[in-house]
Amino acid sequence: MRLTRPGTFLRWLDRHGLARLGISAAARRGDAQARLFFDPAIRDDPYPFYREVREAGALVRGRLMWSTTRHDAVVAVLRGEAFSSDLESLPAPGPIAVVRRLGRSGRPIGPADPPSMLVVDPPTHTRYRRLVAKVFTPRAIEGLRPRIERHTEALLDDLAPAPGGTGTVEIIERYASLLPLTVIAEILGVPQHMRQRFLAWGEAATPTLDLGLTLRQYHHAEDAIRQLNAWLRGHFARLRADPGDDLLSRLVHLDSEGERLTEEELLATAGLLLVAGFETTVNLLGTGIYLLIRHPDQLRALRERPDGWPNAVEEILRYDSPAQTTARYCRADTEVAGVPVRAGEIVVPMMGGANRDPAVFPDPDRFDITRANARDHLSFSSGVHYCLGAALARLEGQLGLSAFFERYPDAALAAVPRRRPTRVLRGYDHLPVRLRP
Ligand code: HEM
Repeated sequence: MRLTRPGTFLRWLDRHGLARLGISAAARRGDAQARLFFDPAIRDDPYPFYREVREAGALVRGRLMWSTTRHDAVVAVLRGEAFSSDLESLPAPGPIAVVRRLGRSGRPIGPADPPSMLVVDPPTHTRYRRLVAKVFTPRAIEGLRPRIERHTEALLDDLAPAPGGTGTVEIIERYASLLPLTVIAEILGVPQHMRQRFLAWGEAATPTLDLGLTLRQYHHAEDAIRQLNAWLRGHFARLRADPGDDLLSRLVHLDSEGERLTEEELLATAGLLLVAGFETTVNLLGTGIYLLIRHPDQLRALRERPDGWPNAVEEILRYDSPAQTTARYCRADTEVAGVPVRAGEIVVPMMGGANRDPAVFPDPDRFDITRANARDHLSFSSGVHYCLGAALARLEGQLGLSAFFERYPDAALAAVPRRRPTRVLRGYDHLPVRLRP
């Protein structure tokens, strides 16, 4: 590994290092919530832990933060005006404030750094969101359908088992990750020859959405973000001179009533679209393939009633969400479900837990593609930060999964799958599947 820049070290310390130290100290002192971040058994199956939290109260206080897995309380936090996504503006004691200030200089613009819309509050957030929503319209997303279908078919062709071969493929690498990558590359107008580099940058930068990275992981992510920034600056210049029919070209050319995104804001937005839309959707496809292989009766029902696919995708999102948790800090004293929360405290709404709340979803641990209210899940968050790409993710999920099982109805697991090491993002990074055409 190359030597870490002092700025990179300070940023890591502020964003991840101190959190790692604090959480591991709390875990050693028996803090139940800190286990979520370290205990491999909870990573593999967090649902019993979420149940414990829910049964302990609407909002449960640990040494470092509040947690909630109750559906109504998670919604209240995500929609509450007292709660901020801008964790960088959380008042910090003197030495941490100094580390934070020093770390800002020379920082590349990452998907989870301001001015990324994910981590800014209204009214700044409102402006970004309004501008980006002008090009990310339902019509534009629906317009991507034929291209997504084409890409899906081409990727499935490539999976065809060779005569005499075992027919075993690594479905995450060969399908689940390539489909979202190709779609985002289309949206951002990334030329064909750059797509592998783009995949590598996206994979390296995505862990910055997680908490508690090691210095090595953070260094690797920041390196990739720096290279992505440099390439994107040149890309914007090319699109300004010669726009394509992609959404990024339209974003670069936005200038209604003198309003457009600055170069920094464009960098943050393009980086965010890449990472927010990438691994989350990979996990939706990977988890969907796994769950449907494990529930052949439900797959059969979908074969008989293909109009059930949209609800099946909602149930996959509910049952094992690609985005399990997020974080907010409380800006002003408030109450959530009758529990007082003080300004400066951190609350972790656990959407993965809210999605199994029996008060909303009867028999919540049962995977049921006909569940009437599956769409009430919180996997796309709620409130002002509700996922901008939800419609696109749903479309990719429906087209990607239905086409896969239409082509390979007898797909079977070829080995025990492996979970990703991340905690916020949940899915498989290794899912070998045996295909029989
Ligand atoms: C299954 C796939 C996906 C899941 C589960 C997911 C989940 C989420 C969640 C939970 C948030 C909000 C986080 C918070 O409240 O702190 C979010 C925000 C966002 N997502 Fe997604 N996402 C998915 C796919 C996509 C796609 C395909 C795109 C675009 C290409 C996208 C773009 C965004 C953006 C731009 C935001 C920030 C919105 C804002 O802050 O106003 N996502 N996503």
